[in-house]
Amino acid sequence: MRIIEDPAELSSSALQGCGFVPTMGALHEGHGSLVRRAAQDGRPVVVSIFVNPTQFGPKEDYARYPRTLDADCALLEPLGVAGVFVPSVEAIYPSGLEASRDEAARLTLPQVATEPRLEDACRPTHFGGVALVVGRLFDLVRPSAAYFGEKDYQQLRLIEDMVDADRARYGALRVVPCPTIRERDGLAMSSRNRYLGPEEREAARALSRALQVAHSAQRVETAERLMRETLDSFGLETEYAVVRDARTLMPVAGFERPTRGLIAARLGATRLIDNAAMTIWR
Ligand code: PAF
Repeated sequence: MRIIEDPAELSSSALQGCGFVPTMGALHEGHGSLVRRAAQDGRPVVVSIFVNPTQFGPKEDYARYPRTLDADCALLEPLGVAGVFVPSVEAIYPSGLEASRDEAARLTLPQVATEPRLEDACRPTHFGGVALVVGRLFDLVRPSAAYFGEKDYQQLRLIEDMVDADRARYGALRVVPCPTIRERDGLAMSSRNRYLGPEEREAARALSRALQVAHSAQRVETAERLMRETLDSFGLETEYAVVRDARTLMPVAGFERPTRGLIAARLGATRLIDNAAMTIWR
């Protein structure tokens, strides 16, 4: 497994047309499942580890975000990963961080990242930073496929639409959605789970529980009420708990087409998100 710091080394023929798993490190079994899914497609797998400053808001956890490179490499090595790309901030943002934040803010994002008023409203600078870094990583790595977890469903939809809207830049790149991996009690795996104290960890079950309880509701209002009630009963502070169209992420009147339940909630200082497909009723 090669550790690659200099983007120039990515042009090595051994990594051409790779399967790519972009990450911010602090890897867990959810990332492991993305790597395994990429390996199934039979191309060399490249994983990037880059804690991207432009996708964190000024009051968010950029400084304290866990950085665990040795443990990350120990998780990746047995999975047969060909290369781990660990660029510096300067390599990704050669024009400097301030200029790059401005560039992220000026990007034209697909509607799915500006209209729903979910993550786009709660974290107004987040998707600009994600789109900027993912586009840059794609330009450097030039993968044939990229693998993203459904855990960050809104991010996944943004990247799918971003790539589709600019085939001149991204060519035939395939964006491959991969299912959320959960702990035994249903909590979606996330690098931020390690911020949770023991009582918070217990209460964090509320998100998957809320999605489960709402899953087979026959009315959108009922599903949304059940999600809120479940989150309240576990003592979480709900930012949103909604049912949306699975493709556009816009509000829906019923369950005739694929929909997604989407939740963001706070538990002390930690913000957690989760989502799941809801039942289709015709
Ligand atoms: O999902 C993540 O870990 C990040 O948002 C990503 C896609 C690696 C971009 O920094």
